[in-house]
Amino acid sequence: MNREIVLETNRINFTNVSYDLIDEYLKLFNNPNIKKFITADPNLYTYENRFMCVKEALETDTLIILSMFDKQSGRFIGNIDFDNITSDNAEIGIIINEKFQNNHYGLEALKRFIEYGFDELKLKEIYLGVYSNNDRAIHLYKKLGFITYKVEEKVAIINGESVDTIYMKLHK
Ligand SMILES: CC(C)(COP(=O)(O)OP(=O)(O)OC[C@H]1O[C@@H](n2cnc3c(N)ncnc32)[C@H](O)[C@@H]1OP(=O)(O)O)[C@@H](O)C(=O)NCCC(=O)NCCS
Repeated sequence: MNREIVLETNRINFTNVSYDLIDEYLKLFNNPNIKKFITADPNLYTYENRFMCVKEALETDTLIILSMFDKQSGRFIGNIDFDNITSDNAEIGIIINEKFQNNHYGLEALKRFIEYGFDELKLKEIYLGVYSNNDRAIHLYKKLGFITYKVEEKVAIINGESVDTIYMKLHK
């Protein structure tokens, strides 16, 4: 399928979120090695739930989700998003397919998307929440300049482990 490229980096094409990718999104979100870092809800993500999420992104101005593809292989890499977008700030989120993790795709994608947020959406601040057991994500966010501004303790028990939510932000 020919998808319009809305952003790109050396290795990644970013396209708008799309209904025909919902099966890919379900595989991504329901992978237990990924799901444990994004929700404490034991239930699986459903087709309807992902459908509504795509619909919201396509029909409102407060949520932008982009799907990423590896330029070389054409394979689906994952999603990156800005949620709760206002004229000043937005919450950033990212999920990279397990097969592409630890190869600096996350770093490459976040750098470009943050640049898009500051330069094109004219945001002044980008914030996020990350579970305290997600050492890799925390390392990456700090590397990009995010600083911790709040910690909410013991928000959930994930795989038997009590986790905090660490809130981080980045100013332009
Ligand atoms: C978190 C995520 C987006 C990072 O993307 P990625 O492409 O895997 O990460 P990158 O390869 O760009 O960078 C990872 C960095 O963390 C480091 N790292 C890897 N595992 C680590 C660990 N267990 N503890 C600390 N640092 C770790 C790597 O060495 C690298 O740092 P470096 O560039 O200084 O060497 C991706 O792994 C992912 O989607 N994970 C599952 C979903 C998720 O956690 N989303 C974020 C929710 S807040």
